[in-house]
Amino acid sequence: MNLKPKRCYYYVRDVCASRCAYCNIWENRDDGSLTPLEEVKRHIDELAEIGVGLIDFTGGEPLLRKELPEILAYAKARGFSTIQTTDGTLYRRRAEELVGRIDFLHFSLDTVDREVYRKRRGVDRLPEVLAAIDRAHELGQPFDFLTTVDNTSLEAVPGVIGLAEQYGTRVSLNPIFSYFKDEAGLSASAFDRLEEWSRRPSVYLNTDQLALIRSGGNRVAEPTCGAMTQNIVISQDGYLLLPCYHQTEERVKIGPDGIRAAMARTEQIAHLEGRYDFCEGCTINCYMKTARLRTEELATGFADPA
Ligand SMILES: C[S@@+](CC[C@H](N)C(=O)[O-])C[C@H]1O[C@@H](n2cnc3c(N)ncnc32)[C@H](O)[C@@H]1O
Ligand code: SF4
Ligand code: SF4
Repeated sequence: MNLKPKRCYYYVRDVCASRCAYCNIWENRDDGSLTPLEEVKRHIDELAEIGVGLIDFTGGEPLLRKELPEILAYAKARGFSTIQTTDGTLYRRRAEELVGRIDFLHFSLDTVDREVYRKRRGVDRLPEVLAAIDRAHELGQPFDFLTTVDNTSLEAVPGVIGLAEQYGTRVSLNPIFSYFKDEAGLSASAFDRLEEWSRRPSVYLNTDQLALIRSGGNRVAEPTCGAMTQNIVISQDGYLLLPCYHQTEERVKIGPDGIRAAMARTEQIAHLEGRYDFCEGCTINCYMKTARLRTEELATGFADPA
């Protein structure tokens, strides 16, 4: 196999009880088909052999996966850094079984205003999330806030930065990307404000990502996308998703011969990466060559989540 992907987005649970306005994953119906734990472990073994440096166990809401603690513990035992992103709604009740198994936890938090949260995330669960953050702090769980920003949420960002500073942690600013055609991108003043906030020591912003968005995103003539050559995307029921989760054109079953055998198909179509019609202008940063996956950043959670 010639491909040397460095990151895996492993969807452990493809459903979610939040209803975020900027995400469509919550529309997925739960058909309950999940890769059994022992098979997930075999996948983790193979990802280590392939040379993948980071497995992002994602979703949907990953904390909906019952065996998440076992999955994370297994990945840690295989030498992976474990970075977990969550909407935080279930963390408090699962904190004890997760502590020690997550090297770095991102709480997705766009606002500290209950009404703004309810409108943005479609559910009235900010109090549970704030309680979860407090619990993580009590337990000594390293965490930060992952703050997805669009034109309508700029006023909420200083409140999140303030909360991060109270806890002695930081905010990773995550500029919105659109799955939907004709959706307005960030305004020029939003870019300016993101850059201004990023000068604070408590704020992290991937400036390469911002530059990519400013310049209009991926170009099919000269792609920035690394969806298939730099990433592996695995569904909750054990399929490779090609070229990426958000625009799946093909599902390839990972059979008894494993991930590398299934990736024969990835190799066949890797030249199409970033070159499909729908790829023009794409800014889904997690797949781009601008996405962060530096070893020294993994230790502190600086990696861009799916
Ligand atoms: C897809 S979620 C999966 C984990 C979990 N459900 C959560 O919300 O943290 C991972 C991250 O992607 C972010 N996200 C979702 N839709 C996005 C979009 N259109 N643009 C940028 N980030 C997005 C979420 O805010 C979240 O921080
Ligand atoms: S961003 Fe996360 S919490 Fe919100 S709907 Fe999507 S998967 Fe669920
Ligand atoms: S450019 Fe975007 S839509 Fe196209 S393959 Fe890459 S991540 Fe997927």
